[in-house]
Amino acid sequence: MSYIAVLPGDGIGPEVIKEAIKIIKSIEDVTGNKYDLEYGIVGGESIDKFGTPLTEDTIKLIENSKAVFFGAVGGPKWDNLESNLRPELGILNIRKRLDLYANLRPVKIFEALKESSPIKSSILNNVDILIIRELTSGLYFGQPKKQIDDNSKRAAVDTMYYDEYEIERIVRMSFKIAQSRIKKLTSVDKSNVLETSKLWRKIVDELAIDYPDVTLNHILVDNAAMQLILNPSQFDVIVSENTFGDILSDEASILSASLGMLPSASLSFFPGENINGNLKSLYEPIHGSAPDIAGKSIANPIGMILSTAMMFEFAFEHKDISELITKSVDNVINSGLRTKDISHDSKWCKTSEMGDSIASQIRSII
Ligand code: IPM
Ligand code: MN
Repeated sequence: MSYIAVLPGDGIGPEVIKEAIKIIKSIEDVTGNKYDLEYGIVGGESIDKFGTPLTEDTIKLIENSKAVFFGAVGGPKWDNLESNLRPELGILNIRKRLDLYANLRPVKIFEALKESSPIKSSILNNVDILIIRELTSGLYFGQPKKQIDDNSKRAAVDTMYYDEYEIERIVRMSFKIAQSRIKKLTSVDKSNVLETSKLWRKIVDELAIDYPDVTLNHILVDNAAMQLILNPSQFDVIVSENTFGDILSDEASILSASLGMLPSASLSFFPGENINGNLKSLYEPIHGSAPDIAGKSIANPIGMILSTAMMFEFAFEHKDISELITKSVDNVINSGLRTKDISHDSKWCKTSEMGDSIASQIRSII
């Protein structure tokens, strides 16, 4: 089990994965390490070929891998299929299967991109946030989950369920990560209404006793959505349940100029505790398959490339390589190169040009 399982998926997934592979190749060149890549099929492509978004072959591939490298899934072509045939089930089932309960979504501001964000530059000063999203429970997975059609009226139900264990492990991880940063943790919930949130808040308060050096705040999710735009620098580590984290991280991505900039790591272990390198993790940008821009060579590969940096940090415990990739992205952005989504004038480069420039930057820094 020494390979990276590569699942490009649908839409712009394959386009951004292609650029991230260039980054892995450049890292091979500068370090002499070798990273075997094994490709698999997932999502809409898998539905077209095999009639299911996740085949047993792909499951075997990821279960035997050292890390999973994931593009995106979904698209209008598959929008009207039955619920059990949605491309999104490809990624949801992988998360569940590998128990990837912690999704780390760093929101980093590249200085030179401040002018590309629709948010005022003054508001972006000192913004450095890590959103930790619970990834294997809550509304996305709770049962019952179905549409009901009893002839008189149509109805539907989703279930928001969390147990103590699920809350405790993500919250403990968040406290620990907060300890490694500026010791500030904000827990997001909707405890004025939801029972799951009341339990969530109670458990967070109980666990806080074990981390006395961390300053803890609770915030309601509606207020959090507003504060993220009004005064984002008040946040450092944010922890939340699955759905809130999904929504807030898309919102927060705009601070860094574009959804295309944000990476993520989905972990089944605490950072730094993948000692023998056999524990499971997956790396994907937070953006989706973006079918409207697929095939146009305008996708921003930086979210995927920064996810590559996270893979080196968490799966392979090579923080130095991770920093080298991030530094190279920074240098290329500082040189003025922009994909369409982060360009504030009419000049922009193709997806492949951005990937080539970052890869050659990696080779030249060393
Ligand atoms: C994400 C995506 C997924 C999610 C979709 C594709 C199921 O939006 O990774 O944020 O909602 O988790
Ligand atoms: Mn999302």
